[in-house]
Amino acid sequence: MALFLTVTFLFLVSFLNVSTRSIHLSNSQAPTFDERNKDHWNLQAQWILRSKISNPVNTRVAKNVILFLGDGMSITTLAATRVYLGQQYGHLGEELKLSFEAFPYTGLAKTYCVDNNVADSACSGTAYLTGVKANSGTVGLSGAVKRGDCKGQRDGFHSVTGLMDWAQRAGKGTGVVTTTRVTHATPAASYAHSADRRWEADADLPKKGLRCDDIATQLVRGRVGSRIDIVLGGGRKNFFPRNERDLEGYHGYRTDGADLIREWIIKKESLGAVPKYVYHKDALMKLDPNVYTSVLGLFSPDHMPYHLEAGNDDPTLSEMTQKAIQILSRRKNGFFLFVEGGRIDTAHHETKARKALDETAELAKAVEAALRLVDPTETLVVVTSDHSHTMTYSGYSKRGSDILGLSNKLNASDNLPYTTLSYANGPGFRPHLKMKRHNLALDNFKSLNYTYPALVPIGRETHGGEDVAVFAKGPWAHLFTGNYEQNFLPHAIAYAACIGPGLTNCK
Ligand SMILES: *[C@@H]1O[C@H](CO)[C@@H](O)[C@H](O)[C@H]1NC(C)=O
Ligand SMILES: *[C@@H]1O[C@H](CO)[C@@H](O)[C@H](O)[C@H]1NC(C)=O
Ligand SMILES: [Zn+2]
Repeated sequence: MALFLTVTFLFLVSFLNVSTRSIHLSNSQAPTFDERNKDHWNLQAQWILRSKISNPVNTRVAKNVILFLGDGMSITTLAATRVYLGQQYGHLGEELKLSFEAFPYTGLAKTYCVDNNVADSACSGTAYLTGVKANSGTVGLSGAVKRGDCKGQRDGFHSVTGLMDWAQRAGKGTGVVTTTRVTHATPAASYAHSADRRWEADADLPKKGLRCDDIATQLVRGRVGSRIDIVLGGGRKNFFPRNERDLEGYHGYRTDGADLIREWIIKKESLGAVPKYVYHKDALMKLDPNVYTSVLGLFSPDHMPYHLEAGNDDPTLSEMTQKAIQILSRRKNGFFLFVEGGRIDTAHHETKARKALDETAELAKAVEAALRLVDPTETLVVVTSDHSHTMTYSGYSKRGSDILGLSNKLNASDNLPYTTLSYANGPGFRPHLKMKRHNLALDNFKSLNYTYPALVPIGRETHGGEDVAVFAKGPWAHLFTGNYEQNFLPHAIAYAACIGPGLTNCK
């Protein structure tokens, strides 16, 4: 029995503590279980049942909240990433779980926006961060403001704030960590109000008519933005002038002459913080969390590179997340940290499935890294996505087949092979030659830049409209079960953490 349990445990556990497990696995013979044996399935299912019935409901106040967001991380992406990551550790892959898939509570969120049936990261970010659904392309504004309506942005009446603001008002530390530009739609929705997600720097604003504050400016000068303690990601160019170069030799992008990095340091000092600006990995890793209370880390002029293409100066999402938690954990009232794996989405738009799965694996590792640093009984961890993509996972390949390769059971009706992963639309479309489909058997699936096949030619693959998964662990995690609108998420988080103007478990 003891042996069976160990085996079952191995089978069930997520990728938690990967290093220990890979050592363990290399000492044992793979496969360590027999799926042909009915005992295997019965024991495994009984084990899940036991863990569910013995899992007490946690109704404590969530002192800390960490919200992880996989941009464009559809349920299909999760299923494919299990295989991608599992095979790197010598498993077949399908039977495993990503770190957060082992959380005790899951739900489904509906992602449509006020104007469009399929969400973009801006309207969706506004929903899951502020609790209000919005129009596509807008952040931190209600559906009364259309994309590009600068007057509506300046008006202020339609501005909405959410988790970041509520946590700050409750005296909590706050942070935002991303692999995209820190001014990109997803992080922006946590602190900015912008009628157009593209207004990241002043140079992006319309040349004529009313002037609106750009997103970078709002991060440094805004009421909510300027009070965020930890900001880590890419997008350095949006913070200093075009005619200047940074210490790595890259030009800035601003036309108003503002040096927002310098301004950020001065602002933080005036607020009584001990701030530090960093721009490469070593400086981040060396930062003493007992000394600095506030960090601005801008590691790249634009988005941070894909993990598969990153250099030695680029911190991983896990490293940034851990440093943020180490600093924020010193806050006596707790913290709210928002972490985005932002390049899952950009990879899908290019139909580069390998990169999309790898970025998803990086998010799963960051969740695992975070869990090692927090007390799970007083920290609510929620992992979700903003919207889906059009990638499908199909065919009837043998168990353990390369998820990024060809479906290996049968060819299509034209007697040509097809890939297990493919897209409904995107740049991976290949025109038929002489009425024949491109022969994929000749393609190099090992290339990081391989564009997976798409049915419809579109330069940038589109988002998908179905629901996204929500995984929760910690105080009030049971609130996240069921199927609901995406804007319910911050209301439930605020209830658990006793923050914000709505109902809380303290009132
Ligand atoms: C599928 O098509 C490829 C390319 O034409 C061919 O090499 C392969 O043998 C075919 N496989 C099957 C199972 O028919
Ligand atoms: C993949 O494409 C990017 C640009 O999109 C390029 O920088 C990189 O070198 C390419 N990688 C490979 C392995 O071809
Ligand atoms: Zn996108």
